[in-house]
Amino acid sequence: MTAAYEYETHEYDVVVVGAGGSGLRATLGMAEQGLRTACVTKVFPTRSHTVAAQGGIAASLSNMGPDNWQWHMYDTVKGSDWLGDTDAMEYLAREAPKAVYELEHYGVPFSRTEEGKIYQRPFGGHTTEFGEGPPVQRTCAAADRTGHAILHTLYGQSVKEKAEFYIEYFAIDLIMSEDGQCQGVLCWKLDDGTFHLFSAKMVVLATGGYGRAFFSATSAHTCTGDGGGMVARAGLALQDMEFVQFHPTGIYGSGCLITEGARGEGGYLTNSEGERFMERYAPTYKDLAPRDYVSRSMTMEIREGRGVGEHKDHIYLNLSHLPAEALALRLPGISESAKIFAGVDVTKEPIPVLPTVHYNMGGIPTNYHGEVLNPTKDNPTAVVPGLMAVGEAGCASVHGANRLGSNSLIDLVVFGRAAAIRAGEILKPGAPNPVLNMASVEKAFDRFDNIRHAKGNIPTAELRLEMQRTMQSDAAVFRTDKTLKEGVEKMTAIAAKLDDLHVTDRTLVWNSDLMETLELTNLMPNALATIHGAEARKESRGAHAHEDYPERDDKNWRIHTISRVDGNKVDLSYRPIIEAPLTTEDEGGISLEKIAPKARTF
Ligand code: FUM
Repeated sequence: MTAAYEYETHEYDVVVVGAGGSGLRATLGMAEQGLRTACVTKVFPTRSHTVAAQGGIAASLSNMGPDNWQWHMYDTVKGSDWLGDTDAMEYLAREAPKAVYELEHYGVPFSRTEEGKIYQRPFGGHTTEFGEGPPVQRTCAAADRTGHAILHTLYGQSVKEKAEFYIEYFAIDLIMSEDGQCQGVLCWKLDDGTFHLFSAKMVVLATGGYGRAFFSATSAHTCTGDGGGMVARAGLALQDMEFVQFHPTGIYGSGCLITEGARGEGGYLTNSEGERFMERYAPTYKDLAPRDYVSRSMTMEIREGRGVGEHKDHIYLNLSHLPAEALALRLPGISESAKIFAGVDVTKEPIPVLPTVHYNMGGIPTNYHGEVLNPTKDNPTAVVPGLMAVGEAGCASVHGANRLGSNSLIDLVVFGRAAAIRAGEILKPGAPNPVLNMASVEKAFDRFDNIRHAKGNIPTAELRLEMQRTMQSDAAVFRTDKTLKEGVEKMTAIAAKLDDLHVTDRTLVWNSDLMETLELTNLMPNALATIHGAEARKESRGAHAHEDYPERDDKNWRIHTISRVDGNKVDLSYRPIIEAPLTTEDEGGISLEKIAPKARTF
């Protein structure tokens, strides 16, 4: 080892990296089964980005009208623009009610109906009668602070179950055996500069998305794709990274989220002519069409000169026609955000909004148990022993090319729970852990040390901004061959500059310069995979709207993109989607015919 650092070793059955919704649900589930579980997290658990999730969590509880999991599954398949894996989408929709009732019993303070049931609101793309009926009220809500409610409850329950938390520990790299098994993770404790080597039978990556690869995102500044970065450095794959969701209603300027629940409660969008333009683009579901649809429609209005404001570059979200009491009861959080970030009183004025990067449909490929896949030509579903990924970091794939609103929170808890169930089946609590591969530990320390002493010419913040601006303009709502080709060229050059970074602060205690540099090395492979995957995909599907190829091409492109990133190079390959559901129609499932690809209209 060139770099000599002392470290403490910790041994667990399971180490979960990340303490957002999926990380905490996995931690809780593991601990409940008697697995010795540690959760390491770079922020205090209740500050994880899930805390910002507003509108709710989808599950077919039928509290507000008829609904069932088969309709939810159908909507998810159609929402994904037929790119999701059918087994995982069935699992999500079928397990959702169970997972929400568990949350209720754990103590999540959901909003209530008059009869005391969990309150549910409409959200975009959630319908009845297999897309033929009216919108359904499927999104379970705790006012507009649902993520906050879930996160606090799961953290409390995990502590009760004696899961051990390592708070403000930054994960540097995975420890991998020579033959490709994950054995643990090396971490840096931010507040005292010590190092901690976690050995585990199972490492669960619950590190969230990489929204901060873009200039304007609803994601927290901590959403730096740390899991994807570690996986890429371990020589493993990322999947479907070209599919980046723009949420229609980020506040113009700050990008702060205004929940889709605002439209669910009756809000609507207007252009400079005061027109409710969504009626033209999505005559049936209007403002409650899925996000890719609404974001594209808003962008078209702006492009055609019907944007609002001095520069005609945004759109209005109207809520002032709703009763003030309803706004105070159902949407108190966004009423406050609109005041703080846009200076708007929602009871009187519209909120200026713009499509803003919100969610990564792609991520670390997994099966529906949360096990990480290392797809090869011969075995597209080969499992990486000892490694799981859940939540936005993972790609199961339930969202395919476009995620439905409120399917994220349910993804977090369903697959966090699924990972725990699987771990309970395959791990033996207390059995000896594999002997750690010291070459992998040394490699991780060497990388850390090189970055800590980087003496190049470019400050981290400057290179990060260059990446963010490029991704924002070249991997945008609408894409063309030209912008994507330029994006690939620019990002290849930008990523090469990681070798010329300058870190100013070389201390180890609360060194935000060093931490942000490590985060940038994680953002970069995510960004590279995104722009390369987008450039290669010659069709339009879900959030990937390619103006030179405006049609979906199921014959050639109903496949998952697999990217492997090495330095500034990206190797692309493809793997088939999983078409077969888990249950047949006779077993109560949905027929293949019902979910066969067709034109996606709303
Ligand atoms: O609009 C929202 O409340 C966001 C929800 C989601 O991304 O699922």
